[in-house]
Amino acid sequence: MKILVIGSGGREHAIIWKLSQSKRVKKIYAAPGNAGIASLAECVPIAADDLKGLLTVSKEKRIDLVVVGPELPLTLGIQDFFAKEKIPLFGPSKAAAVLEGSKAFTKQLLRDAKVPTAQFESFTDFDQAVDFLQTQSYPVVIKADGLAAGKGVMICKDRKEAVEALSLLMKGKIFGEAGSSVVIEEYLEGQEVSFHVLVDGTSVLPLASSQDHKRVGDRDEGPNTGGMGAFSPTPLVSVAMEKEILEKILVPTLQTLQKRGIDYRGVLYAGLMLTSSGPKILEYNVRLGDPETQPLLVRFEDDLIDLMEKTIIGRLKGVTLHWRPESSICVVMTAHGYPGKVQIGDEITGLERAEKMPKTVVFHAGTRLEGGKYLTCGGRVLGLTSWGKDLREARERAYDACEKIYWRGVHYRKDIGWKESME
Ligand code: AMP
Ligand code: GLY
Repeated sequence: MKILVIGSGGREHAIIWKLSQSKRVKKIYAAPGNAGIASLAECVPIAADDLKGLLTVSKEKRIDLVVVGPELPLTLGIQDFFAKEKIPLFGPSKAAAVLEGSKAFTKQLLRDAKVPTAQFESFTDFDQAVDFLQTQSYPVVIKADGLAAGKGVMICKDRKEAVEALSLLMKGKIFGEAGSSVVIEEYLEGQEVSFHVLVDGTSVLPLASSQDHKRVGDRDEGPNTGGMGAFSPTPLVSVAMEKEILEKILVPTLQTLQKRGIDYRGVLYAGLMLTSSGPKILEYNVRLGDPETQPLLVRFEDDLIDLMEKTIIGRLKGVTLHWRPESSICVVMTAHGYPGKVQIGDEITGLERAEKMPKTVVFHAGTRLEGGKYLTCGGRVLGLTSWGKDLREARERAYDACEKIYWRGVHYRKDIGWKESME
């Protein structure tokens, strides 16, 4: 089979690494890919949101399966676009991708489905939103309705901060039109987990559990990022907890979507807060998490192509997934300045030494190859991913690998999975 994977991050490198182990694969293309991906796939310089360009290359190369990594092409309707041409694509339709594309839509759906989530109201009028703040207790959470690359969520400790956040989103338009509608919601306390399921229109099949670390600094300090490191599984999701998450959150969400005529096929990622009154949904993503995919896929033992095909054609019923019993972890190494304006173009050294470590894979994200040298070219640069008999062993291995790598201004959190590996 010939496969095209869309995207250029660590998640896509991990997907391609796993796909390349399938006997069914003849050739993998990546659009646009990165320097690490280039060792496993042919990279074509087409942006992930250039739907026409992606379709042209898929026809030219006679692609049998398209795998979409990031959310943007999904919210733009790539699934519908390729379905017209009868090219199989792993990812939900435009109508289903609204679960990630509009927080206001999703919150209303959750309310209708009676799914546990933070109390909220949505606003398109600035003055009404400001008036509503008087009725709230603090901290309060303010979210841009549309996509904002994981940065459109502001946790405001008092009313003054909340008014400023509304003003930045609705008047300053710091995230453009994504902020012309906002959601104001209750602040939830608890531990956050990432819970992925595959959905084939009717059946729901959970993947292994994982946990991400969103803040840039150790001890969860500093601004939110796309994710600084993740591990799998998490002790927080027991068998009973998994059942509760499925029954109270995922199944009613999908049933309510179906009642509205929306068929979900693809991976659905629930960002959950485990509160003292049970799991509550913070947000849905209509794709795999990055960096959660890296520790998930190094534990995954089955053929990924089979699973993606079964999802597309509605044959997940009765499927059992197999995972290595070991724990895995991914530590993300970032460029100086991330998640703000980043310094790029620095030479990365030590890659070969890190790659030689046992039970370790170096997934690339923001890298490019120039004159035989690997250079940084994005905020998240590498994801050092290791596994071991328990989280403590996996963690030691991943951090040993991190120490072998250097570039000017490199940063990584030193406490990924630390608390949990002590349990
Ligand atoms: P979201 O994009 O909605 O997942 O939000 C990004 C991050 O903001 C989440 O992963 C949480 O860490 C935090 N967050 C979002 N909503 C809430 C909430 N209601 N209460 C507390 N933290 C939240
Ligand atoms: N790791 C968070 C995300 O993929 O949205």
